[in-house]
Amino acid sequence: MKYGFFDDERREYVITQPNTPFPWINYLGNEDFFSLVSNTAGGYSFYKDAKFRRLNRYRYNNVPMDSGGRYFYIKDNDTIWSPGWKPVKTELDKYECRHGLSYTKITGEKNGLESEVTLFIPLGNWCEIQKMKLTNKSEEVKKFKLFSYNEWCLWNAEDDQNNLQRNLSTGEVEIDGSTLYHKTEYKERRNHFAFYHVNADIDGYDTDRESFMGLYNEASGPQAVLDGSPRNSEAHGWSPIASHYFEIELQPGESKDLIFVLGYVENAEDDKWESKGVINKTKAKAQIAKFDTVEKVDAALEELAAYWENLLSIITLDHEDDKLNRMVNIWNQYQCMVTFNMSRSASFFEVGIGRGMGFRDSNQDLIGFVHQVPERARERIIDIASTQFPDGGCYHQYQPLTKRGNDAIGGGFNDDPMWLILGTISYIKESGDFSILDELVPFDNDESLAQPLFNHLTISFNHVINNLGPNGLPLIGRADWNDCLNLNCFSTNPNESFQTTENNTEGSKAESLMIAGLFVVYGNDYIDLCKQLGKTEEAGRAQKAVDEMKEAVKAKGWDGEWFLRAYDFHGNKVGSDENEEGKIFIESQGWCSMAEIGIEEGMVEKSLNSVKERLNTPYGIVLNNPAFSKYMIEYGEISTYPAGYKENAGIFCHNNPWIIIGETKIGRGKEAWNYFKQICPSYLEEVQELHKVEPYVYCQMIAGKDAYKPGEGKNSWLSGTAAWNFYAVVQYILGIQPDYNGIKIDPCIPEEWKNYTVNRKFRGANYQIEVENPEGVSKGVKELWLNDQKLDTNIVPVMDKGTCNKVKVVMG
Ligand code: BGC
Ligand code: NOJ
Repeated sequence: MKYGFFDDERREYVITQPNTPFPWINYLGNEDFFSLVSNTAGGYSFYKDAKFRRLNRYRYNNVPMDSGGRYFYIKDNDTIWSPGWKPVKTELDKYECRHGLSYTKITGEKNGLESEVTLFIPLGNWCEIQKMKLTNKSEEVKKFKLFSYNEWCLWNAEDDQNNLQRNLSTGEVEIDGSTLYHKTEYKERRNHFAFYHVNADIDGYDTDRESFMGLYNEASGPQAVLDGSPRNSEAHGWSPIASHYFEIELQPGESKDLIFVLGYVENAEDDKWESKGVINKTKAKAQIAKFDTVEKVDAALEELAAYWENLLSIITLDHEDDKLNRMVNIWNQYQCMVTFNMSRSASFFEVGIGRGMGFRDSNQDLIGFVHQVPERARERIIDIASTQFPDGGCYHQYQPLTKRGNDAIGGGFNDDPMWLILGTISYIKESGDFSILDELVPFDNDESLAQPLFNHLTISFNHVINNLGPNGLPLIGRADWNDCLNLNCFSTNPNESFQTTENNTEGSKAESLMIAGLFVVYGNDYIDLCKQLGKTEEAGRAQKAVDEMKEAVKAKGWDGEWFLRAYDFHGNKVGSDENEEGKIFIESQGWCSMAEIGIEEGMVEKSLNSVKERLNTPYGIVLNNPAFSKYMIEYGEISTYPAGYKENAGIFCHNNPWIIIGETKIGRGKEAWNYFKQICPSYLEEVQELHKVEPYVYCQMIAGKDAYKPGEGKNSWLSGTAAWNFYAVVQYILGIQPDYNGIKIDPCIPEEWKNYTVNRKFRGANYQIEVENPEGVSKGVKELWLNDQKLDTNIVPVMDKGTCNKVKVVMG
């Protein structure tokens, strides 16, 4: 069963049936103001922070699924229907949802009346536009009633669900013609309000939920809609909403356009009021005026299209495989922008109140985003680094609104610091901007502690060597990348979170082979950076530490056929053939392979062979094997998941590309490519129903071989999977790697690939890179030509801004 198809020409995914196996969503907005929108118009909007500045209510984990959205109700004689199918769910004569790049267009038709709603957030604006076109496609005159519906969230999405004793008394609105204002708490500590406007005179409205819905009605049948008459209610406490009402008549063939604007405004403290108790609407009115005609809205849509056209022109692939082109050129890059914006905060699996921006997550997201808008990556790096502690440890998360470290979770995840090196060097390699290293960046947001960013990197590097365990390997702390391998936790209390409960790090022998590999990979990058900067002594010091780490891994981290995963609190092996369950883990195979530790001794090859043999499945590579079947108190959360799910032997897609990159280190292009295809959404179209989540983006986890339903995806969109797969395919399979002094070319492909072309904009110049593989090899660049001149390296130098350069790569 297929629910839709790719329209590559328009860069859209077209959903042809509303009852998808799970809501298939899209993201609107690229900076500051964002919305989530499902294929039935569910979702919500927020300004910067889905916890502290949420505009509309959304009910997660609800029945029915996906409850809450920007809904429209049409009452056409006795038929009541919603153009996006939900919430009324009247069967539509026609339905189509087109998820495009930062816009979604939902079309529904019933009894000869068609509604087409285009939703988007104009660039640089803090509002969601809902452009509606109603068309009478029948032969008769159509008289019908239209209601819009939006339920306000009282800003703090967590408090909104918790604190009913207060919140049901605080709601306040103002009604001003066709604009319905939500101003709860505006008179006290808030300088912001929201509004829902429509660009036409209305025939009625509602702002009180109970008046509109009826107390015991469901969203599928609000009383006002059933009766065909609004109540013109004014909310005082309880649950404020915004609903416009229209009586419309359309001649056969006639259309009517309406533009709804859901906006957010901030006013200066001394400029909040127009008169006593009446909000100053100047900014809201200006915002409304910008989008009060179809022409203006269409111009904003064109601007958005041009914005994406430009972003996606930075890296484009021309390959004979359309499914690959589609991912590299459109969807994977799009998802990278979304993960950059959201980190792990707001999706249909992340409720937007728990996690803000993750330290490690956001650094990793950068590797798939940095080429798009390097200036934003720069700002992000500085924000992240500002939440580092003076000893190199880091706040694990921070809130996007305040940019402050999140005390509730704190720090102690010992992999975190090294990711800052990855984020920073990725930015410098893309932009050539070494000046970022001189930026004065605070520790723990304390300006008085500020030091140049470069020192943050040194301190990150040192944090690992200052925290080594008995085997000379990095101490794991609270956890490393695998948040669920809680080796110092020993939790027996179901009321505490594994992430935040007190850890017994004192006297712990728990060491991580994953951090060891990570340290070697980014330690090497740190050394290179030092050399670029002429810091020879520091490079030498770092080299010594990296070499020692490699030796420690070879001596204490090798299990015979693969790398160990860790040592536990007591110093026992984790991820060893000696263990009964969890004999082998993916993370250390990935990182130690990428680090090329023991490559000469054959360790990398053996490790990757073991992955293939023990962890690979047709749906992707599982995290560990055998899965844990009982709670292991000394391992923590990992063993709480049923076998085959999440970190307990699920296919945790984020780490599959580590194996892909590892394979490219030993030149196995075929293996790398197969692993890539296994989890890549565009290759999963035939298993849409099983896969369940969106077929155009990666998900965090696919159920593993021990699960009840192997192959079933969960937790789509917000995962490091997006950035890592993009990075793996572009930089390590296609082999186009930005470097300090140019673009390094080092493909690793299946032997049968004959050729492909990558167009790359890099530091202001264009490069048309044609790769040819006449001898059918997997790896190796035999000849490199730049504008018909043969080069004797595999690095294409940085060319003058504005130039168009032809690069020919002959593999062999
Ligand atoms: C999940 C992890 C996640 C962690 C932190 C755990 O329950 O399994 O994937 O990173 O929570 O929120
Ligand atoms: C999801 C988290 O966002 C990420 O930080 C973590 O590394 C993985 N889960 C694995 O546990």
